[in-house]
Order: sequence, then structure tokens, then C-alpha cells
Amino acid sequence: MRFPQISSSLLSADFARLGEEIKAVEPFVDMIHLDVMDGHFVPNISFGPPVIAALRTWTTLPFDVHLMLSPVDPFLKPIAKAGANIITVHPESGPHIYRTLQEIKALGCRAGVALNPGTPIESLPLLLPLVDLILVMTVNPGFGGQTFLKSQLKKIKDVRALINETNHDILLQVDGGISPDTAPLVIEAGANVLVAGTAIFHGKADKYEKNISHLRGIL
Ligand code: DX5
Ligand code: ZN
Repeated sequence: MRFPQISSSLLSADFARLGEEIKAVEPFVDMIHLDVMDGHFVPNISFGPPVIAALRTWTTLPFDVHLMLSPVDPFLKPIAKAGANIITVHPESGPHIYRTLQEIKALGCRAGVALNPGTPIESLPLLLPLVDLILVMTVNPGFGGQTFLKSQLKKIKDVRALINETNHDILLQVDGGISPDTAPLVIEAGANVLVAGTAIFHGKADKYEKNISHLRGIL
């Protein structure tokens, strides 16, 4: 498997042509990142299970679904049924994060936990046996195109140290403001999966391959 893995966030893609946008990045990325937002947990609304199910027919790439909604538990089953492979949740989006992660696993998906910029890593050790992915947010969740928060680099390093202490194969994903300038910083800090929206979906579709190469550090 090539690292860093790239998970392309459809939030910055053309919403009128999401299927074609997936096809345009498919040969160059490792996962498709789908941001589900409810206008309540975060101040924006995106899309939900029916759209994910419709997109499922366009690719066999893993669907990496980032849930930004509250309460999150009633949506786990519909999201899994729609075709998610990884489901990532925020501890603040439900009353019992441990139970939520157990349910994701029971649904046959890989489980991720997402840490907002203000969320400390203190409770992570208790969750490690249940998680396949840890997502460090480097912007406040809700919108694409925001400025990368350098203050989160220390957290990425701390999470990397925690993962290295375990025998589990846990992916360390970073989401928000990832660009050719910030990618080397988060890779250096220990991230191995980069989520990117704006940095990929700008310019015409024939530019996407180049945009993705720049993220991987290939100029
Ligand atoms: C923001 C989302 C991100 C968003 C990132 O809440 O979780 O996945 O699409 O967008 P960029 O890469 O533009 O910062
Ligand atoms: Zn996201």
C-alpha cells in the first residue's frame, strides 16, 4: 500500500456531477471521503445515505464516511447500508462513544474516531481497541477551504506516539486545510492518510491528477 494515502473529500467537488467527479479522481486516490453534515452538529448541511448509496455504484474504492451529525447513532445503520467502508464519528456527537464504535464494528465497517481542534486526546487510550482510524481535524468541522491550524501538529505527533505503542494497525488521518504546503508538515508529524477537498477539486478535471501528485510530494 502506498503512503500517504489520499482520501478525496467530495465536499469541494461539483455536486451536480458527483459520480463523474469520483471517476475523475479514482485512478489517483486511495479512498473517497464523504462528509455528512446536519446543520446542527456543524453549521452546514451536505448529503446523507441516499446520495452515498447512489454514488456507491460508481467505484469500488473504499468509502470513508465522516459523520458530523448529532445524535449520530440512528444514522449508523443507514450509512453502513448505503455502502460505507469506514465510518468516523466525533465523541461529542452522541452520549456513548464506546457503544457507538462497537455498533460500527458490529455493522461490519471499520471504525474511526475524530478529534476536533478543541478535543484533547486523553480518552483515546480507552478507545484504541475499537478503532481502525483516528482522524485529527486541522480545521473546525463544517466547511471546506478553511485555513490549516498549525496548533494541531503536536496532537498529530501525540496520537502517532499512542498508535506506535499499540499492536493495532490504526490509520492516522488528517482533515482540513491540507495542501502541498501543509501535507509535508502532517506527514512529518506522523499522519498517513490525508483528506483533501479544495486542494484536489480545483481547476478542470484534467488537473486533478497533478493536484493529487502535488499532495503526495511529487512535483
Ligand atoms: C470539513 C470536512 C473536510 C473538508 C476539507 O469539516 O471534514 O473533509 O472537505 O476540506 P479542505 O480540504 O478544503 O480543507
Ligand atoms: Zn471530513
